Amino acid sequence: MSDEEVWLIEPSGPLRGDVVVRGSKNGVSKHMVAAMLGTGESIIGNAPEVGEVGITASMLRALGITVEIDDSEIRIEQGPRIEPRVPAEYTGLNRIPILMLGPLLHLAGEAFVPLVGGDPIGRRPIDFHVAALRDMGAEVEIQEGGVYAKAKRLNGTRLELPYPSVGATETILMSAVLAEGKTVLKNAAMEPEVVELALFLQRMGARIELSPDRRIVIEGVERLHGAQTWLAGDRIEAFSYLAAGLVTGGEVRVHGCPQDRLVTAITTLARMGARFEINDEYLCATAPPEGLRAAAVQTDTHPGFMTDWQTPLMVLFTQSHGMSVLHETVFENRLVYVPALQAMGCEIEVFDQCLGGPACRYHDSNAKHSAVVRGVSQLKGADVRLPDIRAGFSAVLAAAVADGPSTLRGVHHIERGYHRPFEQFKTLGLDIQRRG
Ligand code: EPU
Repeated sequence: MSDEEVWLIEPSGPLRGDVVVRGSKNGVSKHMVAAMLGTGESIIGNAPEVGEVGITASMLRALGITVEIDDSEIRIEQGPRIEPRVPAEYTGLNRIPILMLGPLLHLAGEAFVPLVGGDPIGRRPIDFHVAALRDMGAEVEIQEGGVYAKAKRLNGTRLELPYPSVGATETILMSAVLAEGKTVLKNAAMEPEVVELALFLQRMGARIELSPDRRIVIEGVERLHGAQTWLAGDRIEAFSYLAAGLVTGGEVRVHGCPQDRLVTAITTLARMGARFEINDEYLCATAPPEGLRAAAVQTDTHPGFMTDWQTPLMVLFTQSHGMSVLHETVFENRLVYVPALQAMGCEIEVFDQCLGGPACRYHDSNAKHSAVVRGVSQLKGADVRLPDIRAGFSAVLAAAVADGPSTLRGVHHIERGYHRPFEQFKTLGLDIQRRG
């Protein structure tokens, strides 16, 4: 018998109330890695309580870094001896080990990291990371079970990413800050989480210039020191709870996420008919009495409609009037969760063509990366297994508007990246119970 935790959800009407979002899973873990690079203590404030923090903390401890976590505050300090190998037990848990290559090269001159994991939303290659480190002078070998790298000192160089990858930009930032000389990176990712990381590194003493044309210039320095920062609220969680209010015909006030992280999301929802109240305290969206309208949305790099917003949007589409179209252009397999929603009665059809926008990188592939969604459909409760974190949250939304109870399995995916989601949903009035 499995002792896996499951959530039992009974639809219980409109979700209403207040949610405070903390720093993001995708911000906090990178800050924890960056903090390795400073001599002296770094303090990361407003950290979420998510599984990803625990995984990253134990990886760092295995490398000889001191990590103390006290609710929303994380303190990190280099230990006297750095172990250059991330243990194999961390294989496949998340995307963080690949980001440790650059920092470990600076601290130990060599590094081994197990092959990365993350959600099954695409091939998730690491070729950009490896190519950049090689261009900066590292010897990098793909070995069985991981990546080995060696370098006496990394050198600054001119780099251009084939696609503005968030992770590869972060690898380059954390490798270039202590490299010899200047690194010029073209076609960098400019997601708010990347900029937040650059600002933290700047507080640690790094010399970084951000240009408006996706160019980042980093002048390597001899050393970095510890620094203190406060993470901005998670724009994925913020959008997800706004969608939770809208899809159930309720009203969720989201505190803690700056409006400028949600510009495209707000406009997309407003085009569908959502009415917003936005002030310096919170953001809140409500559906008009006649319900939301269908839309055509294409995901993109920042400042476009982010890929992680599309899973709750998809459930919203099923409850909006008309046929909606979604074109996913960032991860080829992001629609892997659609069968779980179909099992709950969502009328979604997936296509390998680029629908609802210009041809993307997956135009000639077999990847089913576009979807047509019919609304309004009556969803039904079901017993479903969640394939990944963002899909998991969407299944909760579908269960909240379904006819009948649902059993959700694999909820650890949700807990890896959302701050206390079970408690938040309970506060909003969802009839949700834990078993297992
Ligand atoms: N890519 C390559 N080669 C590489 C790196 C990326 O081809 O070496 C491709 C990817 O396959 C993908 C595209 O570039 O098609 C974009 O990937 P990116 O590197 O930007 O994504 P990531 O860094 O792996 C982060 C977040 C994702 C978020 C994306 C886009 C973390 C840990 N993950 O992934 O978040 O969707 O950026 O904003 O920061 C999530 O939280 O659920 C999640 C998947």
